[in-house]
Formats: sequence, C-alpha cells, structure tokens
Amino acid sequence: MNKAKINQSIKLELLANPKIDIQVLADKYNVTTMSIGANKSTLVKQGLLEPTNNKHEEFGKRLISGINDEVADVTEVTKTAYKLKKEKNENTYANHDGENKEVARVKIAKYVIDSGVVGTIPTLPNTEWAIEQKIDSQVSGNDFIGVECHEPTFKVMKSNLKKLSLKAKTVFGLIGSIIYTKLENTYAHLILDYCGNLATICKEIEYAIVNDIIGVGGIMAITFSKPIRGTDMQSEKLKGLASITNNIKDERCMSDKGVEAYFNKITGWNYQVVEFFYYQDTYPMTLVIIKRIK
Ligand SMILES: C[S@@+](CC[C@H](N)C(=O)[O-])C[C@H]1O[C@@H](n2cnc3c(N)ncnc32)[C@H](O)[C@@H]1O
Repeated sequence: MNKAKINQSIKLELLANPKIDIQVLADKYNVTTMSIGANKSTLVKQGLLEPTNNKHEEFGKRLISGINDEVADVTEVTKTAYKLKKEKNENTYANHDGENKEVARVKIAKYVIDSGVVGTIPTLPNTEWAIEQKIDSQVSGNDFIGVECHEPTFKVMKSNLKKLSLKAKTVFGLIGSIIYTKLENTYAHLILDYCGNLATICKEIEYAIVNDIIGVGGIMAITFSKPIRGTDMQSEKLKGLASITNNIKDERCMSDKGVEAYFNKITGWNYQVVEFFYYQDTYPMTLVIIKRIK
C-alpha cells in the first residue's frame, strides 16, 4: 500500500472507531503514533471527528478536499470497517414482523417513489430486500447499494438478491463507510433502516446532511430505537437533548421530544423533516423522514 492509501485506511479506521487505541493502529500500519495523531488532527480540523478532549467543534459546511483525492475503493473501505464491527459482534435482525414495521416500510417506499428522484440508493435491506422491492415495483431506474455488517446476514442478503430482478450491488461493512468522504449529490436517497441507537449513528447522519450527499428532492429515511441512550454518544448536539429524558430508565422511551428537537436542529435550511413515525419492533422505534428541499 502506498502512503496515501495507508493514511486513508487510518482515517477510515479512526472514523469507524474514534476510540481505537492509537498504538494498535500504529502497529497495524507500521507507522509512528505521531503519524496516527496527524491523521486524527486532520479529521478533527475537517470536522469529521470530535477532538479527543470532547470540546464541541462546530460541524460547519466544508469541502473535504484533503480526504477526497485519497478515497479508497468501496471494497477496501468496507473490509476495513468490517474488521472493527466483527469484534463487537453486533446486529442481527430477527424481528421482520414487528408491529407497524410494514407500515414504516410502506412509508419509506412511498416517500422515495413520490419524490420523483431516481438514482443510487444506499440501503440496509437485511435479508429480504422488502423496501427496495416495493420501490422497484413502482418506479424503475433506481440502483441500490445493499450494505450489511453482519456476516451471516450478508451472505443470505446476497444470495436472496440473485433471485430478484433488482438492480443492486452488495457491500459487506458499515454503511458509514459509504457515507463518510462522499460529496454533494452523490446519492438519490439514503434508506438507513438501522433500527439502531441514535447516539451511535448520529454522526454519519450529520455528515450526510452537512455535505448534502443526497440530491435536491431526495429523502433520508432513518430508523432507530426511541430512547436516546447515553452510551457512545457521538454528537454534542444530541448529548444536550438526551438530558431532557431525565435519565430515569423507564422514562427514556418518552424521548420523542428530544429526538424531534435534535432533527429540527441538524436539518437547517436545506432540509425539511417531513415525518416522525413511532412504531413497535422488539423495542419502541422511531422512523424519521428528512427531505432535501434545496
Ligand atoms: C432493521 S434491519 C433492516 C430491515 C429491512 N430494511 C427491512 O425492511 O426488513 C437493519 C440491518 O442493517 C444491519 N445494520 C445495522 N446497522 C448497520 C450499519 N451501521 N452498517 C451496516 N449494516 C448495519 C443490521 O445487521 C440489520 O441486518
């Protein structure tokens, strides 16, 4: 690997896991810890990473010029990200039929179809490609990037795709790896049906919005569990709002006001929050639909 590629891989690992041990990373890429620190500083300056001392740094609009000419290909990016995820052994989705999950799927598909915007759509289809098939049955011309970070799920997702007529490719890794580093108007829509924890996904959502990576008229559909949990909180903007859930465990499901305030805060002038929909999966869930209006 040449120096630029090494630096890019280091940056991607830092983005995927900001708390990674610098020495471990230095050993892995056979570079000095100073070199890791320099990559970290670059990401902090670009607003992609919080400073280590956790001081809030404004996440202003920018062109990611430094990182742009070093972007690794998708396969390499996702391989790197996956190694990190595998260690955590997270994410299996066994509740396809949660109460109102199908309503949420229909809503997501409808917003994409009604937008009239057609193009490339990164998505988390799990094994069934349910939302993607709904879209494809109504409007042609979209191509999907199905991303999955859990290996057994990925294999089934990939083999199921062969039975469908969807125009799609599959990527093994974290969806953040195909969000970070992307520039304006890269995608038509983003279907981020994580059913995850807002605290750990918010940074890539903010990146996508700040950098306008979906085109005008496109939508972002995001699902996550309703409580705002404090662990691994990646956004200062969200941290402030989590406190209104008053930290009493059973009452954190009341955090819809915090969630709504957060999305209204991060969307700015170019986006409109068009719907919040609360439904039941294994846990109480939130679907947020955001539209890029200019
Ligand atoms: C809720 S399921 C998707 C459900 C599917 N869209 C449907 O309609 O049935 C989320 C899937 O995405 C995967 N996943 C969650 N977060 C991810 C991430 N950050 N990167 C890649 N895959 C992720 C999970 O392993 C899971 O298979």
